[in-house]
This record gives sequence, C-alpha cells and structure tokens, in this order.
Amino acid sequence: MRQPDGDLTVRAYVPDDVPRLAEIFREAVAAIGPADYSAAQVAAWLRRVPSAEGLAERLGDGRRVWVLADQAGCAFAFVDLEPDGHVDLLYASPAIAGTGVVAGLVAHLETHARDAGMVRLYAEASAAARRFFLKRGYAVSERRDFQIDGVEIHNFAMEKRL
Ligand SMILES: CC(C)(COP(=O)(O)OP(=O)(O)OC[C@H]1O[C@@H](n2cnc3c(N)ncnc32)[C@H](O)[C@@H]1OP(=O)(O)O)[C@@H](O)C(=O)NCCC(=O)NCCS
Repeated sequence: MRQPDGDLTVRAYVPDDVPRLAEIFREAVAAIGPADYSAAQVAAWLRRVPSAEGLAERLGDGRRVWVLADQAGCAFAFVDLEPDGHVDLLYASPAIAGTGVVAGLVAHLETHARDAGMVRLYAEASAAARRFFLKRGYAVSERRDFQIDGVEIHNFAMEKRL
C-alpha cells in the first residue's frame, strides 16, 4: 500500500485524481469495513465501488471535492460537498486512516460550507464514519437498514448544524 511522501495538505480535487480516488475507495472499504461489517456486507459494499468513469462523472457534477495529498501531490483521502450540504463520500487510505489527519480535511469542508452560508451538513455514515463524525459534533438522526444485492447492511443518517 502506498505511503505518503511528506506532510499531507488539503487541496481541491482535479480530474487526474480519479484513478487514485477509486483505489482509496476500494482499499478503505476492504481494510476498514471488516471492523464493523461482515464479509458478505463488505463484499456487497465493494461491488458498489464506482469505476473510475463512474466516479469521474459523480465528482464532476458540480459538487465541491477536496483531497488530502502528500508533497508529491498524491491523494490519501477525499471528501465531497453537494450544494444542499450533503456530504456524499468520505474515504481515507488505510495508510493514513486513524492518524487524525482526516479531521483537517473535514474541517476545511466545514469552513467552506460556513463561508458559503450553509447552515446544515448531512451524511449517511458507515459505522466507522459514524464514530469519526460523532467526535466532530455531528448527531445521528436515525439508523438506516437497507439491502445491497439482497445483503442486509446499515449506516447512519447524521447531521451537524453549522
Ligand atoms: C471514515 C474515515 C474516512 C474516517 O477517517 P479516520 O481517520 O479513520 O477517522 P477516525 O480515526 O476517527 O476513525 C474512525 C473509525 O475508523 C476505524 N479505523 C480507523 N483507521 C483504521 C485502520 N487503519 N484500520 C481499521 N480501522 C480503522 C476505527 O474503527 C475508528 O473508530 P475508533 O476511533 O472509535 O476506533 C475512514 O475510517 C474510512 O475511510 N473508512 C472506510 C470507508 C468509510 O467507511 N467511509 C465512509 C462512508 S460513509
């Protein structure tokens, strides 16, 4: 697994990041998912990881996207923000997850949201993301139980008033 070259800093996403972001997405689900989800649930989640083309389309729809990148410019985490305050994607490479640096990425998003006049951020958080967001002042609105390809899985609707 790729390790960061020097300190990580926040920068805006560029379309050239897409292959690396798809890789982070897969590695994060595969390595961090099993702490909270069964093998069948992780496999179902992995089947939902978008292709590079699908991810490029999603990230290029007008939403804001930021990455945490090393000194060589390589991304190690990413987060997005849709115009209505929805945080759709938050994924960190297992090489840097759990070290505290992802907090800086989300703090950057929150500063942007406040400056843009947003009053509420919301997300559908995985179990790991739920713990991350709880530490940062987000509250759980409800547990969401649903299926992916017939596999029962759950996440948590969360929100933060800015
Ligand atoms: C959500 C995520 C970006 C949070 O970033 P983070 O740096 O891991 O945040 P935290 O350090 O607060 O860790 C949150 C939880 O992730 C788990 N975790 C973090 N790093 C881990 C690692 N390297 N390996 C396994 N689990 C890890 C832990 O269970 C942790 O909970 P805890 O602190 O109560 O033990 C990151 O955990 C991630 O990418 N997870 C997998 C993908 C995912 O769930 N994305 C959200 C989709 S809604």
